[in-house]
Amino acid sequence: MNLILLGPPGAGKGTQAKRLQDTHGIAQISTGDMLRAEVATGTPVGKEAKAVMEAGELVSDDIIVRMLASRVSQPDCAKGFILDGFPRTVPQAQALDHMLVDTQLKLNVVIELKVDDSALVDRIAGRFTCAKCGEGYHDSFKPTAKAGICDACGGTEFIRRADDNRETVVARLDAYHRQTAPILPHYAAKGILRSVDGMADIDVVAKQIDAILTQVG
Ligand code: AP5
Repeated sequence: MNLILLGPPGAGKGTQAKRLQDTHGIAQISTGDMLRAEVATGTPVGKEAKAVMEAGELVSDDIIVRMLASRVSQPDCAKGFILDGFPRTVPQAQALDHMLVDTQLKLNVVIELKVDDSALVDRIAGRFTCAKCGEGYHDSFKPTAKAGICDACGGTEFIRRADDNRETVVARLDAYHRQTAPILPHYAAKGILRSVDGMADIDVVAKQIDAILTQVG
């Protein structure tokens, strides 16, 4: 099963992709996580991407497409992959089409998480992750069971992303509406676009996604 989770920043793509990875054994491919790893290790790609990401703008299609092409061929993608944060522009969607033809892979479904812009700033401003295992949390919507201790690994250090501030979120939302939303018709025309109510609780969204995967699987 190969799918795309599409939606604005904070829509819940990463939250749902991690669940699907655990429950269905398909690999989460987050271009945002890949870029943050490049920034953290100071690679040439990371150096180029850092300022762009902190401004809430999109990294060049060239870099992203090269990064993705080598990722989908790795062994953990054998049972399928969930694209989280890719494609984000029409040229990226077209590059993915070519990549799928070249690798003889099929894209089963594109799931759009629909969330009101007004909810996204609060979601992003409250987000934090475990520094040890990467488990994601939210101050209000998904706190740790015991304050200061990761539910998943017992870690006690947490991080907040550099681009998770109110000003940058506005720029990220603007980039989503200008550059990413125009790819929705690309997938609607292929008959593989489905939408879920991303405003619902995390568990309810997961159930909606599961129902779609059962239908298309
Ligand atoms: P990226 O890392 O992809 O960030 P994003 O798309 O902005 O998405 P987020 O990770 O912020 O949100 P999410 O939808 O995963 O939400 P989450 O599940 O965490 O990209 C970062 C940057 O990298 C970009 O701005 C760009 O510069 C660059 N980049 C990446 N890919 C690129 C590409 N392809 N091309 C060019 N540039 C690229 O949820 C958010 C919070 O809400 C969490 O705290 C969570 O617990 C909570 N939450 C989740 N679901 C719910 C719910 N249903 N109800 C209540 N709370 C919820």
